[in-house]
Amino acid sequence: MSAPLLEVRKVSRFFGGVKANLDVSFQVETGMVLGLIGPNGAGKTTLFNCITGFYPPSRGEIHFAGQRIDGKSPDQVCRLGMARTWQKVRPLAKLSVLDNVVVGALLHTISVRQAREAAREHLRAVGLQARADVLAGGLPIGERKKLEVARVLATRPRLILLDEVMGGLNARESEDLIGLILEIKKRGLTQIVIEHDMKAIVRISDRIVVLNSGEKLAEGTPKEVTSNAAVISAYLGASEGAKA
Ligand SMILES: Nc1ncnc2c1ncn2[C@@H]1O[C@H](COP(=O)(O)OP(=O)(O)O)[C@@H](O)[C@H]1O
Ligand SMILES: [Mg+2]
Repeated sequence: MSAPLLEVRKVSRFFGGVKANLDVSFQVETGMVLGLIGPNGAGKTTLFNCITGFYPPSRGEIHFAGQRIDGKSPDQVCRLGMARTWQKVRPLAKLSVLDNVVVGALLHTISVRQAREAAREHLRAVGLQARADVLAGGLPIGERKKLEVARVLATRPRLILLDEVMGGLNARESEDLIGLILEIKKRGLTQIVIEHDMKAIVRISDRIVVLNSGEKLAEGTPKEVTSNAAVISAYLGASEGAKA
């Protein structure tokens, strides 16, 4: 069997007395969509920050594409083929939608013309081609989330980490994002998706990891996880009425 694309080994991250992540371990195989769920404050975003190099883990190891990456900078990790979106989207507001994506594409070419061509392609992929010349700061939330995905694609990653890309979207916009994630999967790219909407996560994920109070509570197929008694009492039951 080939080695997993990503391996998180007993990763912990402490902020003073807060255990944001505690001994979290899981693997991600090439081509799969891993859903990462858990209540607010469970440590999901912190785990993304550790994986993508924004924080070094306090303990543990992270291996990506055959290399140990914990301790590397976000830029180094990105060059190895990993790209993320942010829960709080922050486009370069004063640049056009196209130029926001050009910035990502320039990771792989010094030719602005080539970067523009690639960027247009990625905008088409997410359905934003008609908005190319608009200032990114003026986009409504649904389109900003799509722009985030286009920016990520432009860096030509092998692993994409999406932090609540459906947060704040209406049903139709969420449906667009689900379609996009499945389309990206078809291209063979690997994705880790943080998402609150259980129906969405069950549809897109091959496997799901559940975090609770910083620790891994459960892991398995969508079916296994949604029928897991500990998950139901810690998460599904508690969040049923408060789907954020
Ligand atoms: N930079 C930080 N400084 C201090 N505490 C943090 C920081 N980032 C996250 N935390 C804490 O870590 C815990 C997990 O947060 P987070 O990873 O954002 O959870 P989630 O994304 O699952 O909602 C929370 O208690 C949060 O307050
Ligand atoms: Mg978060």
